[in-house]
Amino acid sequence: MSVLTDSGLRAQFPAADKLLYLDSAHQTPLSRPVRAALDAFYDQALLTAGPKKDWLTRVEEVRVRLATFLGVGAQEIAFTKNTSEGLNIAAHGVPWEPGDHVLLLEGEHPNNAYAWLNRRQHGLEVRLIPQDKKWADAYTFAPHIGERTRAIAVSHVMFHSGQRNDIAAIAGLARRHGVEVVVDAMQSVGVLEVDAHALNVSALASGCHKGLLVPQGLGFLHTPRDGARLPPTYVAAAGVANARADLVAGPDPVELHADAHRFEIGNFNLPAIHALGAALDLLEGVTTARIEEHVLSLGDQLMARLDDLGITLAGPTERERRSHIYVLELTEPGWPEYFAAANVRLSPVRDGIRVSFGLYNTADDVERFSDILRRGLARRTRHAA
Ligand SMILES: Cc1ncc(COP(=O)(O)O)c(C=O)c1O
Repeated sequence: MSVLTDSGLRAQFPAADKLLYLDSAHQTPLSRPVRAALDAFYDQALLTAGPKKDWLTRVEEVRVRLATFLGVGAQEIAFTKNTSEGLNIAAHGVPWEPGDHVLLLEGEHPNNAYAWLNRRQHGLEVRLIPQDKKWADAYTFAPHIGERTRAIAVSHVMFHSGQRNDIAAIAGLARRHGVEVVVDAMQSVGVLEVDAHALNVSALASGCHKGLLVPQGLGFLHTPRDGARLPPTYVAAAGVANARADLVAGPDPVELHADAHRFEIGNFNLPAIHALGAALDLLEGVTTARIEEHVLSLGDQLMARLDDLGITLAGPTERERRSHIYVLELTEPGWPEYFAAANVRLSPVRDGIRVSFGLYNTADDVERFSDILRRGLARRTRHAA
């Protein structure tokens, strides 16, 4: 039984009532409070030409709130454009010599993989670890760690299977070998409980347009206090501790901020950061513990219906290994078009049809989807006969 039965919550996400929205892993449908925060920002810009000082104060307030949400200090959070930017900062910052290597799982999200694959031209070796789409833990990586392993770059939740990798165990292993761990948390933040401090990794990057409920164009990078070891990829005044107040860049040696501010460049995505404040209000009101339980319960329900229908999952079935993402092994052509015609929003992926739940989904959504699936299967049987 779902823990989120408050119908008021569903009403905050109008798109979820207009269509059967099962695509939280792609992007969030906009919610009313986030839209209101964006409107308020633009009204201020329209009517007052922008109190930028106040807006920047708001940025720092939201930074503190995001950090608290993740269980870390505000100085450990840099705002970025998206996950890719954070991962690229890490891929450029982790120290390595030509011939050293980084370990990635086969099938990683391309935005994680390319950040590292592109470093091969400078001599980094990228080793792709085979795995079974069920989950990855310390045992997955242990046989591949060698003298010259410098980093493991891994998704917390994998976008194409929904598997939840055991980051704390991977980080524990890595630490014993002096290996950095860089995490892509795009699919987990805001959906599963993510205590970034407890995960104890070298860098954790995410965008905010899925579980964090704001439109595309805002992300963050968490680096722990000793993350100052990572040099920034780009530098602008925001990252410089001794930037002059008169805005004249002098000949003095550049001193970078000791904390995550060093990674920030230029102006912020101010509307999105304002929106994130409203999204955090909403998420904190519900709590990620309840959201996690909710999406897993919807998963239990879906899996029971799939069993009845004889449809298998590409990813794991154990509760602690799965997430809000369920990939149905429906690879025959025609399914994506069938679901689109039935007004269901989901994502076709490499192993089938990806269904993903958000806090706005209900048990009724799962039943409606199961009926649509049943009709689709019946139609195929009729056509085959
Ligand atoms: C695991 C993962 N990483 C990254 C991204 C997106 O990267 P970015 O935030 O840079 O657009 C996605 C999906 O959009 C994803 O599923």
